[in-house]
Amino acid sequence: MKNHRWSLMNETDLPVVEQIMLATYPHLLEDISSIRERIRLFPEGSRILRRSVDDVIVGYFISHPWAAHSIPPLSSLLGELPTKAEVYYIHDIALMPDAQGIGAARAILADMSQIARNLHINRFALVALASALAFWTTQGFREIHEDAFKEKLRTYGPGAQYMQRAVD
Ligand SMILES: CC(C)(COP(=O)(O)OP(=O)(O)OC[C@H]1O[C@@H](n2cnc3c(N)ncnc32)[C@H](O)[C@@H]1OP(=O)(O)O)[C@@H](O)C(=O)NCCC(=O)NCCS
Repeated sequence: MKNHRWSLMNETDLPVVEQIMLATYPHLLEDISSIRERIRLFPEGSRILRRSVDDVIVGYFISHPWAAHSIPPLSSLLGELPTKAEVYYIHDIALMPDAQGIGAARAILADMSQIARNLHINRFALVALASALAFWTTQGFREIHEDAFKEKLRTYGPGAQYMQRAVD
């Protein structure tokens, strides 16, 4: 990944994160207080991508340890993280168009694999929007179908799927 770098997200970055969210998912805006809570609960899991030339934030990534086969509702507060987490949950990644296709997602997945391994967690989990299914499939994720997911998946839009893959 050239000319960009991932770093920890701070609460002061949230207005820019919200702008990127608005540009990427105008139909699926999340309550920013749920992102603030995730930064507090698990600071290492939330990152921003900066363009080196001007330090502008051009992407973000949000993740945390979580229970297997469980989808936190959108815009929800988690309250606390499970004491014994079974998966490392990727809540969201969004990159501005100019920052796509440069390997930023691949790079952050490698960083997060390290974090998950340190926690003795060996699976990643996420909900893929229909538009991103092909991308997650290239990254080794596979769909898991359970009746219990159906209602929650609907809130992510038609075609969204719960997926998992092994941590590297
Ligand atoms: C989807 C997204 C996160 C991918 O990130 P990215 O940094 O552009 O991906 P990378 O450059 O790391 O690409 C990694 C690999 O995935 C492939 N890839 C990237 N986007 C893809 C897509 N939309 N469909 C299929 N493959 C894709 C790349 O070709 C690359 O393959 P390679 O390893 O064989 O070279 C990014 O495009 C994005 O933010 N999109 C808008 C928001 C979004 O959809 N987020 C996911 C919500 S679930």
